[in-house]
Amino acid sequence: MGLPQDGMSRDEVLAALEAMRADDKDWRNGRCFALVFHAGDEVEDVVREASVMYLSENALNPLAFPSLGRMQEEVVDAVAEMLHGRDEGREAAGFMTSGGTESILLAVKSARDRALAERGITEPNLVLGRSAHAAFHKAGHDYGVEVRKVDVRGDWRVDVDAMSRLVDDNTVLLVGSAPQYPQGVIDPIPEIAALAQDRGISCHVDACMGGFVLPFMERLGFAVPPWDFRVDGVTSISADIHKLGYAPKGASVLLHRTAELRRHQIFLFDDWLGGFYASPGIQGTRSAVPIAASWAVLHFLGESGYLRLVRTTIDATIRLVEGVRAIPGLRILGEPDAHLVAIAADDPERLDIFRVMDELGARGWHLDRQTPPDSIHATVSAGTAPAIDAFLADLAAAVSRVGSARTEDRSTDYAPLPEEG
Ligand SMILES: Cc1ncc(COP(=O)(O)O)c(C=O)c1O
Repeated sequence: MGLPQDGMSRDEVLAALEAMRADDKDWRNGRCFALVFHAGDEVEDVVREASVMYLSENALNPLAFPSLGRMQEEVVDAVAEMLHGRDEGREAAGFMTSGGTESILLAVKSARDRALAERGITEPNLVLGRSAHAAFHKAGHDYGVEVRKVDVRGDWRVDVDAMSRLVDDNTVLLVGSAPQYPQGVIDPIPEIAALAQDRGISCHVDACMGGFVLPFMERLGFAVPPWDFRVDGVTSISADIHKLGYAPKGASVLLHRTAELRRHQIFLFDDWLGGFYASPGIQGTRSAVPIAASWAVLHFLGESGYLRLVRTTIDATIRLVEGVRAIPGLRILGEPDAHLVAIAADDPERLDIFRVMDELGARGWHLDRQTPPDSIHATVSAGTAPAIDAFLADLAAAVSRVGSARTEDRSTDYAPLPEEG
């Protein structure tokens, strides 16, 4: 369908949009264990109002809109404090980005440019575990950094000995995740960071998922292994506000241990006909919505709000893990450290977990299908917490119904392309 000859009325436009959503996942019922993070109607209202206030402003020029510069700085400050980047004289500095992928791209670029400036490295490589997010591979591809993969151990955490064997004089970055996405476990960050520090290499901690969970879990008394700026050798951390921070899409923070390290993130240029161009991210013109909405949600919830939401989320995750373990034929992969859970068959020859997912999908549940090994992945958050008991009941029923039936469809669907019309 091309551009209509004449415009539709406002009501027609809105009705058409409403009709188009008919086949979309209904995340409001708590059945969507991925993609959407909902902290309740009150939070949604505040976020919506803040977003509408800043629909038209442009974060490209924070001098034209000083409020955006100020809000961004205050959001970055709040996250830096949460991640202990300002304790004991530390001076972590960063920027907001459009999401986890942009933060990761920029962490890789920063490490590459730092290594060029400090060590003269022109053929850079980075080392990560197979569990690290796909965005690191995209970054390696886009920024010309060779990506070296090591296996994970039996507990799904990165094998640091294997990592050390792949490090050489051209290594610019080691990566750890807190937690990694596929099985939800936290890598041995102190060991990875020590290896990096020993060799003068940057060390990025991907806390895109954990950034707004782990600090509050720790305060609630859960055991959280060391992962943030309190670990010597960690040079940068990504933490997404648009996940468990409950901001709308387009909001993450990339922090560097020092302002000096942050310098390598920024592209500065003035040799064209248009004037000074300082670009700390991938985008030029940039929506103000995620900045205003992030500021709004952080200030609306405050520490006590996040503590409450994380308590709900982790209690629900524990119920989910215990409930799955009680269903014969199923197992949880590893021991999830936070709110990410991978569910697999005890014996994949006898039970096809993707066939089980087909049954669940028919009942309106959405979980990612992932491999290897074949498993289904739940991101638990405040919005899915109330649905855990119903999910466990449907999961147990689906396992009995499926029996030994299998599906031909072995595809996975973390981020598929749109279907062609
Ligand atoms: C651990 C981890 N890192 C990075 C990302 C990428 O984040 P985004 O989808 O915001 O680009 C995700 C997304 O789920 C993630 O779980």
